[in-house]
Amino acid sequence: MLNQQQKVIFSGAQPTGSMTLGNYIGAFQNWKQLEKDYQCYYSIVDLHSLTVKQDPETFRNTCLSFLAQYLASGLDTEKNVIFFQSHVREHTELAWLLNCYTYMGELSRMTQFKDKSERHQENINAGLFTYPVLMAADILLYKTNLVPVGEDQRQHLELSRNIAIRFNNIFGETFAVPDIYVGKQGAKIMSLQEPNKKMSKSDENQNAVIYMLDDDDVIVKKLKKAVTDSYNEILDRPEQPGVQNLLSIYSALSRKDREDVVNSFEGKGYGALKKEVAEIIIENVKPFREKYRLYMENSDYLENVYRSGADRAREAASKTMEDVREKIGLVSF
Ligand code: TRP
Repeated sequence: MLNQQQKVIFSGAQPTGSMTLGNYIGAFQNWKQLEKDYQCYYSIVDLHSLTVKQDPETFRNTCLSFLAQYLASGLDTEKNVIFFQSHVREHTELAWLLNCYTYMGELSRMTQFKDKSERHQENINAGLFTYPVLMAADILLYKTNLVPVGEDQRQHLELSRNIAIRFNNIFGETFAVPDIYVGKQGAKIMSLQEPNKKMSKSDENQNAVIYMLDDDDVIVKKLKKAVTDSYNEILDRPEQPGVQNLLSIYSALSRKDREDVVNSFEGKGYGALKKEVAEIIIENVKPFREKYRLYMENSDYLENVYRSGADRAREAASKTMEDVREKIGLVSF
């Protein structure tokens, strides 16, 4: 059942690599909070990942592993609609139509496109260019009101809004115009090696990233190597980005106020801070890993989840598409 009284939230994550502590704290912990008050759609946006070359067998496994990681992070499969983007064909259909209402100039201005095409000059494909249009389709299909994403997606979300407004102006009220949802604490977890950079699963330095499936000893090791500074005092200030990052992790995972956390470390050294942060990470990662393993051993259950998710998503998506087709002037079928 979909709850049609609640406001709609849509978010997506690409099934590449494995989930980082940054994703968990920055996205999944918040998603879990939202399921009470909103009708949430959480999609594994597999089609977006194809803008990068994938090995078919590995990709299929990663997608399923990602679903298990979504579930391991505690998202409720009844309250939320959890599904693979490619299972609801309306996404690609709407993306094509919206392509025809999006300008080359707009897409050329997307900083992520510019970054990615600079970094991967050997594969600047058209999908990379129209990536934000598929994202707009994801969002607009469900008449989404709010989209919880990081700052790096703000420009894409602006574009989705502009496309929605443009379409509504031409054809009359069709899409809701989505707003970005900025979480309450908005904890952004930074690289353990370069604490001025966001923690990213594509970081080449593996010591910079904690993965939710890392073993305990790996976590302890990475934390020991975490970059701090030479002030040797645990203070919450921008001159100490490494320490601040560890405080953010601690405060997010313990769900304690940052101030209380800072106070509780008063007079302690960096060794103690790193040790306690490692401990609280392990406390969270352990049950995650155990649930993950259970889900991965139970492929029937996973299939059940993604099938019913796709069915529920399709129910809403197909209604929107019917309306869009009719408004655009396609002959009804
Ligand atoms: N582009 C997003 C990212 O890389 C993923 C994404 C695809 C998304 N479609 C979406 C996020 C719709 C929010 C809503 O993070």
